[in-house]
Amino acid sequence: MLETPALFQPLALRGVTLKNRIVVSPMCQYSALDGQINDWHRGHHTTLARGGVGLVIVEATAVEERGRITHGDTGLWNDDQVAGMAEIAAIIARHGATPGIQIGHAGRKASAQRPWEGNVALGQSDADRGDAPWQTVAPTAEPFMEGWHCPDELSDTEIVALVDAFAAAAARAHKAGFRMLEIHGAHGYLIHSFLSPISNRRNDRWGGDREGRMAFALAVTEAVRGQWPDDLPLFFRVSSVDHVEGGWQIEDTIALAVVLHGLGVDAIDCSSGGVAGMVTAARVKRDQGFQVAYAEAVKRETPLASMAVGLILDPGHANAIVAEGRADLVALGRELLRNPFWPLQAAEALDFDPDYGQWPDPYGWWLDRRTKSGFNPL
Ligand SMILES: Cc1cc2nc3c(=O)[nH]c(=O)nc-3n(C[C@H](O)[C@H](O)[C@H](O)COP(=O)(O)O)c2cc1C
Repeated sequence: MLETPALFQPLALRGVTLKNRIVVSPMCQYSALDGQINDWHRGHHTTLARGGVGLVIVEATAVEERGRITHGDTGLWNDDQVAGMAEIAAIIARHGATPGIQIGHAGRKASAQRPWEGNVALGQSDADRGDAPWQTVAPTAEPFMEGWHCPDELSDTEIVALVDAFAAAAARAHKAGFRMLEIHGAHGYLIHSFLSPISNRRNDRWGGDREGRMAFALAVTEAVRGQWPDDLPLFFRVSSVDHVEGGWQIEDTIALAVVLHGLGVDAIDCSSGGVAGMVTAARVKRDQGFQVAYAEAVKRETPLASMAVGLILDPGHANAIVAEGRADLVALGRELLRNPFWPLQAAEALDFDPDYGQWPDPYGWWLDRRTKSGFNPL
């Protein structure tokens, strides 16, 4: 019997058992129309789920139309969007992975160009080609960066309505057949912009001290948990630190995580940054696993499971993160775009699948014979 490497051990969360610890990190495709999925999303998720991951988290899906980052974002703000997302959940499950989805609201970082069209706020030239800008909203009427739209400051009534929008999107995600849900509380988008003192300068019940700044995240979580069945896991993605002086710190993340646990969150997905700059599009040099320490801190200091993400590239490294108890799950983003078969190749590299038995039959049979003919792909 082969020993199962930590990376390939199943993980039970409530009534769901993930077949391994490898997760597709949520990745916007900016390819939807009116929030609806299309053939691109079908193919994208077929490819990723076939690659052998345990969990696929579908891209940040907007809970209301003005909460999209770009015109190409997916949405679950109306019932018509459920059928398309149900197709995606079914595709992921059919190819052997657990289907999950992230729901979010872009706040003051909404109304932006698709990354490859400029990656800044929409303007007149975008309007001329049919991508009109729209009014953004945020806890405080301050733009994200120079040149970005100035958001409207949300009123108390509007904030309560947004909490309801998150809950309604969660109910639709369940209807669509997803088995795991993640609340997007990171990267400078709406929830994070309430959490961080850099972007929240309110003095009412939604701002001020840390407790006040956490209030929106907690209200959303409570409302979402109310709509998300007890037997299904709920994750929360946090920007563990702002990387800005005077900003949100890891101690704040720990404090938040403890309260989220009390509200029924099962795991914290530990990203960072984004409140005052781009995250994944940043051009600063980063090391492999540069955010793992945050997942490790959450796992050590709280009763929650944690997920590490960010430049996790090497199967041995990924396995060690789980084996050493630094995180329960590892999420990969860009590396899976480059190589969707990374999980199956990791199984091979870790001597867990020497004969391609885990590959889909139409591929594995041939690859096994190729290896036995003396070819070593590793
Ligand atoms: C194309 C693309 C789209 C992304 N969209 C999202 C998103 O929808 N939600 C989110 O929380 N993070 C998003 N991210 C960040 C990734 O989930 C991940 O945290 C980041 O890419 C770091 O992991 P990596 O080094 O493995 O790519 C996106 C990243 C990429 C490359």
